[in-house]
Amino acid sequence: MNILITGGAGFIGSHVVRRFVSNYPQYHIFNLDALTYAGNLENLRDIEGATNYTFIKGDIVNAELINDLFKNHEFDGVIHLAAESHVDRSITDPLAFVRTNIIGTVNLLNASRDSWKDHKKGKRFYHISTDEVYGSLGSEGLFTETTPYDPNSPYSASKASSDHFVRAYGETYDLPYVLTNCSNNYGPNHFPEKLIPLFINNIIESKPLPVYGDGKYTRDWLFVEDHARAIDLVFHKGENRETYNIGGFNEWQNIDLVKLLCQLMDKKVGRPQGTSEQLITYVKDRPGHDLRYAIDADKINKELGWEPSVTFEEGLERTIDWYLENQEWLDNVTSGDYQEYYTKMYN
Ligand code: NAD
Ligand code: TYD
Repeated sequence: MNILITGGAGFIGSHVVRRFVSNYPQYHIFNLDALTYAGNLENLRDIEGATNYTFIKGDIVNAELINDLFKNHEFDGVIHLAAESHVDRSITDPLAFVRTNIIGTVNLLNASRDSWKDHKKGKRFYHISTDEVYGSLGSEGLFTETTPYDPNSPYSASKASSDHFVRAYGETYDLPYVLTNCSNNYGPNHFPEKLIPLFINNIIESKPLPVYGDGKYTRDWLFVEDHARAIDLVFHKGENRETYNIGGFNEWQNIDLVKLLCQLMDKKVGRPQGTSEQLITYVKDRPGHDLRYAIDADKINKELGWEPSVTFEEGLERTIDWYLENQEWLDNVTSGDYQEYYTKMYN
């Protein structure tokens, strides 16, 4: 089996690539990634020499490149993670999200449709999406697979659009697909623009921790390796044309999560308790900020037997340890363009 994984040099993609390369020596894994600011081959140093692994630097917006790759390698499966993934960046540059998340996805769908048109059996297009397509919850309720789409940010609108295209290709061209919508991930290799790694980095550097609005926004956090395990399961056992929600059953208000992170960091770096909390700074809110996300992951649990295996306390500790042990990784990704982004965003 030849499997194309897109966005494999990014946060979640690198954990998925590692899992597939290590667990399935009978597959050949092709990792296609444009290496944007979020892509980093350092994430895959430990498996880059594996005989069943090939990295291809390329942009999914380039239809000709995608079509050539499908002709040359006859992929049996696609696991599509490549995306622009940060809400704040989508507010400043929505078109970048239209290009990669919508046009890039349609290019991959076209190539899969054309290359599988006479033999669909055993083929699979797996689209990785987010719970943000469902919009915002009030203080009650959970997102299920039948919750209507109601995206509020340019990021979630572009992901919602790509999800619709995937479903449409199933209906119109009988493309064999599966789709998952997952809650917020955290863990090693997470780019320090998202809440948890940004705050870990700022605590290390004793910089202010910019909490948006009143900090009472709620997210449902899942350890990235549990997401990678769910992706493995859905790729192999999921039903064609089905959607599965994936979540951590682990809701936290931002401010409570930040305080827990501060306490753990003080302990880990040997500072008196309370030191990092003093860095908390309330800043201007994100426009269109979704109040609450929370996933009902009952379907994937009942039908495929998946549930999170890592508790939040354990996952957070493993995450902090990874960042403290990989200071060079952090230094590399926070030099250059990152400084410019940070100044524009927070100063
Ligand atoms: P990320 O930003 O860390 O990584 C994205 C990767 O895609 C990078 O390696 C980047 O170089 C690559 N990429 C971007 N544009 C590309 C293009 N035009 N062509 C080829 N490669 C390109 O993102 P992530 O957090 O790992 O998210 C991966 C996927 O999972 C995304 O589709 C995202 O929507 C989805 N998702 C993320 C989360 C989360 O909490 N991070 C939750 C649910 C779903
Ligand atoms: P983020 O990690 O960007 O993920 P998403 O917006 O996709 O859920 O943000 C998680 C939460 O943290 C969200 O409510 C916004 C908030 N947040 C801050 O308060 N400050 C920050 O600097 C960032 C990046 C996020």
